[in-house]
Amino acid sequence: MTPDAAKLQRRARHLLPADVYDYYAGGAGRERTLRANVKAWRQVWLAPRVLRDVSATDTAVRMLGAAMATPVGVAPTAFHRMAHPDGELATAAGAARAGALYVLSTRSTRRIEDVGAVVAAAGGTWWFQVYVMRDRELTAGLVRRAAMAGAAALVLTGDTPVVGHKRSEQPRRAISDEDFLVNLGPLADLGAAAQAADATFADIGWLTETGGGLPVIVKGVLRPDDALACAAHGAAGVIVSNHGGRQLDGATPTARALPAVVAAARAVTVPAGTVPAGTARAGAEGFGVYVDGGIRTGQDVLTALALGAQAVFVGRPVLWALTCGGADGVRELLTGLTAELAHVMALAGAASVAEVPASASPAAGPPAAAAPPAAGHGHGPASEPR
Ligand SMILES: Cc1cc2nc3c(=O)[nH]c(=O)nc-3n(C[C@H](O)[C@H](O)[C@H](O)COP(=O)(O)O)c2cc1C
Repeated sequence: MTPDAAKLQRRARHLLPADVYDYYAGGAGRERTLRANVKAWRQVWLAPRVLRDVSATDTAVRMLGAAMATPVGVAPTAFHRMAHPDGELATAAGAARAGALYVLSTRSTRRIEDVGAVVAAAGGTWWFQVYVMRDRELTAGLVRRAAMAGAAALVLTGDTPVVGHKRSEQPRRAISDEDFLVNLGPLADLGAAAQAADATFADIGWLTETGGGLPVIVKGVLRPDDALACAAHGAAGVIVSNHGGRQLDGATPTARALPAVVAAARAVTVPAGTVPAGTARAGAEGFGVYVDGGIRTGQDVLTALALGAQAVFVGRPVLWALTCGGADGVRELLTGLTAELAHVMALAGAASVAEVPASASPAAGPPAAAAPPAAGHGHGPASEPR
């Protein structure tokens, strides 16, 4: 299996029914954001360090206290049984074997408990993604089950009050009712499971309580003021995301949105107990800032780290790897991306993720503050996005 996402995508296209491929690949509206997400990482310039000992590069990170071998995690995506008969069980196994964090979607086509068992057996870590559904009791039921099944955090998707219009809507033919409802059970009214349009910041507290105190990360944040509001309502972090260009077309590409959110997050003091002890970044950096959208190579991962993300998530490439190779395909994609990251970290003069030097762009010119030459992370003041 190759970590070349474009090649995997071409192979998956041949294997999948056309409507399933279009559903996975597509974005909302004219797909401006979908395209820009990929390009934006390549418009950022890096400022490598020289003469650092990079004879061993370590890609390990802590994510809410859990030790992961790689900062490349799996973003939550729906309906994996359309890609592979083992569905989310294969994705979860592949991620855990690569030492990568897995975020299980609310729209999983495998039972939450079975996914939890697969990750536990491989010694991995998973988070559960939450759509607040119109019937909040349905949401609460899934959240309690995820907590019982070993989820280490909840990921509240905040960018989907209604579903963006895409060139291919959810291909219902490709999913049996049994798979679609595997976690919800028979429903008299399918509308009860649709996303609630009235979810607000107050739901962060409700979810924390419902999940028995699990940390809540808010996904879909693109603005510093929203990141601060999430923190003020008790979130442990945010994922800078535009849902892979599937929601508001024209939303800022994530590489552009990230620096301002990182800068805002530095001002956040995380209340004691919100983030488990042992979290890599102490003090102001205890508030998690993660990113997804258009990340396709180890170089893109390095760029995200240089812009101040603590870790990244990949969406579509995992679906292509799952289609082509099941659990092994997912594992090979993630270990391949991690190997690429280790290589470019060495070229950037970083022996560890904490030593990745801050990016010199998108603002022009070199980083304002000279970073200390030896140990310590090199994230200088974040640049403002243009
Ligand atoms: C087919 C598909 C299904 C998705 N389903 C979900 C979902 O159920 N919940 C969610 O929060 N995000 C969902 N997303 C968004 C991803 O979590 C992530 O934000 C996005 O895929 C990242 O962009 P990338 O695909 O360019 O890596 C989905 C994305 C795709 C492509």
